[in-house]
Amino acid sequence: MCGIVGAVGQGPCYPTLLEGLRRLEYRGYDSSGIVTLDQKTNFRLCRSVGKLKNLDRKLKLRPIEGKIGIGHTRWATHGEVSEKNSHPHLSGDKVGIVHNGIIENYKAIRERLEKKNFLFSSDTDSEVLAHLFVEAFAIGLNPGQAVRSVMSQIQGTYAFAAISKDFPDIIIVARNASPLAIGVGEGGCYIGSDALALAHLTRKIIYLKDQDSAIVSQSRVEIFLSDGSPVQRDEIQVSAGLSKIDKAGFRHFMEKEIHEQPDAIANSLLAMTGSDYRLSTGISKEELRKTDGILMIAAGTSYYASLVARFWVERLAKIPVSCEVASEYHYRNPVASHLTTAIAISQSGESVDTLMALRHAAKLKLKTIALTNVKDSTIARESEFVLPTHAGPEIGVASTKAFTSQLSVLLIFSVVLAEARGQISKEKADEIHHQIQCLPGLVAQTLKIFERVKPIAKRLKSATSAIYLGRDTLFPIALEGALKLKELSYIHSEGFASGEMKHGPIALIDDKLPVIALLASNSLVNKSISNLKEASVRGARIILVAEKSVVDQVDFADDTIIVPSVDNLIAPILLAVPVQILAYLTALYKGTDVDQPRNLAKSVTVE
Ligand code: M6R
Repeated sequence: MCGIVGAVGQGPCYPTLLEGLRRLEYRGYDSSGIVTLDQKTNFRLCRSVGKLKNLDRKLKLRPIEGKIGIGHTRWATHGEVSEKNSHPHLSGDKVGIVHNGIIENYKAIRERLEKKNFLFSSDTDSEVLAHLFVEAFAIGLNPGQAVRSVMSQIQGTYAFAAISKDFPDIIIVARNASPLAIGVGEGGCYIGSDALALAHLTRKIIYLKDQDSAIVSQSRVEIFLSDGSPVQRDEIQVSAGLSKIDKAGFRHFMEKEIHEQPDAIANSLLAMTGSDYRLSTGISKEELRKTDGILMIAAGTSYYASLVARFWVERLAKIPVSCEVASEYHYRNPVASHLTTAIAISQSGESVDTLMALRHAAKLKLKTIALTNVKDSTIARESEFVLPTHAGPEIGVASTKAFTSQLSVLLIFSVVLAEARGQISKEKADEIHHQIQCLPGLVAQTLKIFERVKPIAKRLKSATSAIYLGRDTLFPIALEGALKLKELSYIHSEGFASGEMKHGPIALIDDKLPVIALLASNSLVNKSISNLKEASVRGARIILVAEKSVVDQVDFADDTIIVPSVDNLIAPILLAVPVQILAYLTALYKGTDVDQPRNLAKSVTVE
């Protein structure tokens, strides 16, 4: 959730650290900070509450020198948002640290250290790390021994970096469950929470594994296992495409990413189309035939993608699918005897809830597949197979192009699985393939509704609450629509299965409540319309989001947003687009922070 960076090189490092933090700001933006070691090996610290621009402003007024330094952008867990709780944390003038994760046993450690007269200046769990290093150095441990001593005393999830006055040429790093990448550049080495933070500096990336520690100097990276033995980790070349992050003339990353969906889907499809123009998942037919039941684990928007995919897999491949909210899954000791395969769905590939659920599934001996937008992410690296989406970096906290790309890949997976298992013919698979190929064009056509949605969003912005309704594959899109609206505009919103309204939620309806109703020409269309009518006669203001072929059947909607009529299978992908646009524009008119909504972080790396 927090983002960490580090640099050790030849020139002043603070601009490099600042740019790294800018590229990581989507991970957390409560506060930020940088510490360097200057020529005289004194710490030069600068921290600021709020967005990174505040830190930037401070640094412009008073630049800090030093060729080695670490930086942090914070998403508060322990300790309120304040300058004293911002990272980096120092232990006197000896050690500075930055940390992402949660040190679960920090209270006991703090009590012990306070008894030894270590002075704490923050309320965070992270500060103990700085003092633990000082304690370790004081008894004569070298940096490698010290970091292992620190790791042996802490419990929880972490990626941390430390610099020390006594060892002014190295950054000491370690990870457990939280991501950490090391970039190997020409004139220096760098660290970052992900490759995106480093891609403008180098394409050569080394990912640490859990329990690894490393000593990073200007020209060398030494990695160690938890027992102190040296280990080599692969150096990966990351794509050049990661190096450029800009809004390309759009007001927000989210707006840009909504518009990038035709390309994101097309690139994801292309990667799954063989030279024979047939769809493929990269998983052998033999493996697919062994798949008798699927567990899908994910969080947030990615979880809603799994709920749509359940319809596809069950309808086409005729095998059971169980969708689980990752943060709940493994804690209930689930029985998985009817399942053979786990698919972890995660845009970032770093959501720790999903990672933990994946590890549990692997323990249960399920075959593991990662569906992720970051092919070198932890979840991808820990899975046996990877189904990549090729949406490109998604910077807006609210997921858009990653979601529709996930859906596209999941639909292809369902088709390939169904054909491999003999549930659909080659001809049927080709027919669906043809529908899928039309998706980028259909999404591009759907994007033209922006103007039409503007007046609707202007009215919606004054609502205090809203309801999204859908049935069948559109129920998960209703959930996603409600999530988009609440996270972006802070309007309380809930998604319901339309047929479930009469079992309770209908009591919420009055003439102030907007009901955003999703409608496609599926087998439940008439029942769905009846459910809407039930809401309408009770005064609800109906905003209909529907396929062209069904709009005429609803003559009681207050507003209508029309999308092209498509095959049932791809309708949920297309209907995801207007709910994104509605949420985006509502937030825009309300004046909330679209790309970095309050309290949220893009990559959720704490449980
Ligand atoms: O990176 P992931 O797909 O694992 O992230 C899961 C959720 O945190 C994420 O989908 C979140 O719900 C979205 N940012 C909401 O738009």
